[in-house]
Amino acid sequence: MTVSIDVSAEEKKITTHFARPQRLLIGGKWLDAASGETFPVHNPADGGVIAQVAAGAKADVDLAVRAARAAFDGPWSKMTPTQRGKLIWKLGDAIEAHLDELALIETIDNGKLLRMAKMIDVANSAEKMRYCAGWATKLSGDTIDVSLMGTWHSYTLREPVGVVGLVVPWNFPLMMAVTKLAPALAAGCTVILKPAEQTPLSAIRLGELIQELGFPDGVVNIVTGFGETAGAAIAEHPDVDKISFTGSTEVGKIILGAARGNLKRVTLELGGKSPVIVFPDADLPTAIMEAANNIFFNTGQSCAAGSRLFAHRDVFDEVVDGVARFAEKMKIGAGIEPDTDLGPLVSQEQLDRVTGYLQAGQRDGAQVVTGGARVDRAGYFVQPTVLTGTTADMSVRREEIFGPVLCAMSFKDDDLDQIAAEANETSYGLAAYLWTQNVSVAHKMARKLKAGSVRINGGGALDHAIPYGGYKQSGWGRENGREGVEEYTEVKTVMIKL
Ligand code: NAI
Ligand code: MG
Repeated sequence: MTVSIDVSAEEKKITTHFARPQRLLIGGKWLDAASGETFPVHNPADGGVIAQVAAGAKADVDLAVRAARAAFDGPWSKMTPTQRGKLIWKLGDAIEAHLDELALIETIDNGKLLRMAKMIDVANSAEKMRYCAGWATKLSGDTIDVSLMGTWHSYTLREPVGVVGLVVPWNFPLMMAVTKLAPALAAGCTVILKPAEQTPLSAIRLGELIQELGFPDGVVNIVTGFGETAGAAIAEHPDVDKISFTGSTEVGKIILGAARGNLKRVTLELGGKSPVIVFPDADLPTAIMEAANNIFFNTGQSCAAGSRLFAHRDVFDEVVDGVARFAEKMKIGAGIEPDTDLGPLVSQEQLDRVTGYLQAGQRDGAQVVTGGARVDRAGYFVQPTVLTGTTADMSVRREEIFGPVLCAMSFKDDDLDQIAAEANETSYGLAAYLWTQNVSVAHKMARKLKAGSVRINGGGALDHAIPYGGYKQSGWGRENGREGVEEYTEVKTVMIKL
């Protein structure tokens, strides 16, 4: 085991915790993969191996689905909404009680800044659990007056959809898992959670906390493993009623294909290429700082990243210079070091992907205002980058890079339709950010933008109460809010002639 950075006592505890091979949580038991295979997990700050984790695959998924089905038909559906809600709330408290430990796991596993892991990933995960705990007792159907002959009593029931597969990515490992787990449990579903192969450790630790709290066996099953094996087995499993996926658009489409077999319900939260639009009347210092945060936060590995900046030509130079200066001041380093502003990318694969885009952009003729290359040190580090002079056909401008790379463009006139058309010139439609003091412009633009989420004069943080999801190829369905919980339910209508 190699962890080269300042091995504090806490960090040592965690690496010791994960020193023995990590297993699968199935039906309340920790099991090796049926194949006996494991895979290594790396620390992105230095590439060292921090754990060996069970490589679950089809046979393990089959077992997990059986356990989830038994729990769904058995103890979980016999619990009252209050009892379910209490357990979910307790899990939120347990996450909060282990905040420092879970944050450190995220940093070692994903590379992200420790202070962000605490403040955002883990704190939000605790709150998300408690937000959803409340929904367990608040989901309900309607009574509906009908116009048929005779007298009818008609109502709807909101029932849990059943056994749900949760396939999550590596950019916010715990938070993405909880974003799906909390509403699924609140709605009364049982789950098979598959964390990303790059970052499975916080999900495993979450599984240990779940076991300690006394959830019935099989309510939460955790199958670590690769997408092409464990993930694919969940997506095509005939006894999984729904799959909720966050990740690439490419895999989202594969999952749709696999889900066809039993027409399982599908929620997809996919990528983005979200515009940040700065009008000349904006509060520029704030807009510049937030535009920079928006793309550099989590080293650009965020589906909500504002990766295309549109600034009015009167303020274009000032905005671009401001973001570039912000980038140049960022201290690049391991997430565990307290003064780091920009941590590594998650993996060698992502480093290759992002540097590939940087090279392609420069080959295609984009100008580098700042950054443009990887950082010459061990680990998966890349420079925060601002590009100008891109055209709509360039891959840097069209595709989700998922790194700290911003394409900046200027717009000339005040024709809102034209500005919106340029901002909408993408196959994605997850988020859009607007900076203007003019309320009329703000609300008109909000309606013209093809995005699931429009943010005006504020930073990018998400809230549990606000539905979030994509237009176009950014996905299907919504997470968070009432809509996010209802995604885990079916509506049944009942009619009785009186
Ligand atoms: P990915 O989409 O391959 O991985 C996400 C999850 O899907 C992981 O748990 C993975 O094991 C699983 N998966 C992969 N193939 C699967 C399959 N055939 N069936 C079922 N599950 C499968 O993403 P990857 O390769 O890690 O990253 C590639 C790009 O995807 C990134 O550069 C980024 O653009 C995008 N991405 C977007 C995310 C978002 O938050 N919307 C999160 C992660 C990646
Ligand atoms: Mg992939």
